[in-house]
Amino acid sequence: MPSSSNGASSVELNAALQPLNWLLGTWESNEPGQGGFHSIKPFSYTEKLHFSHMGQPSMHFMFTATPEDSAKPSHRECGFIRMQPETNRVAFIIAQNSGLVEIEEGELTGKQLILKTRKLERISFAKEPHVQEISRVFHLRSDGKLEQTVSMTTDKQAPTQHVNITYIKTP
Ligand code: HEM
Repeated sequence: MPSSSNGASSVELNAALQPLNWLLGTWESNEPGQGGFHSIKPFSYTEKLHFSHMGQPSMHFMFTATPEDSAKPSHRECGFIRMQPETNRVAFIIAQNSGLVEIEEGELTGKQLILKTRKLERISFAKEPHVQEISRVFHLRSDGKLEQTVSMTTDKQAPTQHVNITYIKTP
């Protein structure tokens, strides 16, 4: 079945991505997300996610996050999502505006996606501290809200949650 217009395509979703069809479209935080880490002050933020496809076995995504005390986004990520056909294995191929490029892989169980860094690289002049590993969970909850939680390990800190937020799908 062709995806709806908010998935930005009138072509049929590739069969390989059917298990992730619930992600398609635009999601906006319904209340401010909460961020923190050992070394920084706790902060609140809003975020918009967009997932789209063009019929290929890869979904495109774009995430834009804005701290509550700022007029402009500070954190942006974009890339592609692929699934290994006939399995529940998922890969995110990610570029972040901080100069990080990353492959996260994991598994889809029901409507929960658990991902972890497989490969990570950064530009030579990336700001410190340097992230070493990211783990991330997307969960479509029974109340229809999508929740994302990101934890990270840096060269100075053990794995710790950095951000948590929920979104509602925009019409
Ligand atoms: C995978 C996603 C993310 C990664 C890898 C990441 C990475 C980092 C790192 C390494 C730091 C520095 C921590 C330190 O100084 O010890 C940081 C700080 C910060 N992050 Fe994130 N972050 C991510 C997502 C986000 C999101 C979604 C927001 C929402 C606006 C955000 C907002 C901030 C803020 C406000 C700070 C503190 C000020 C600053 O250093 O710019 N981050 N992040």
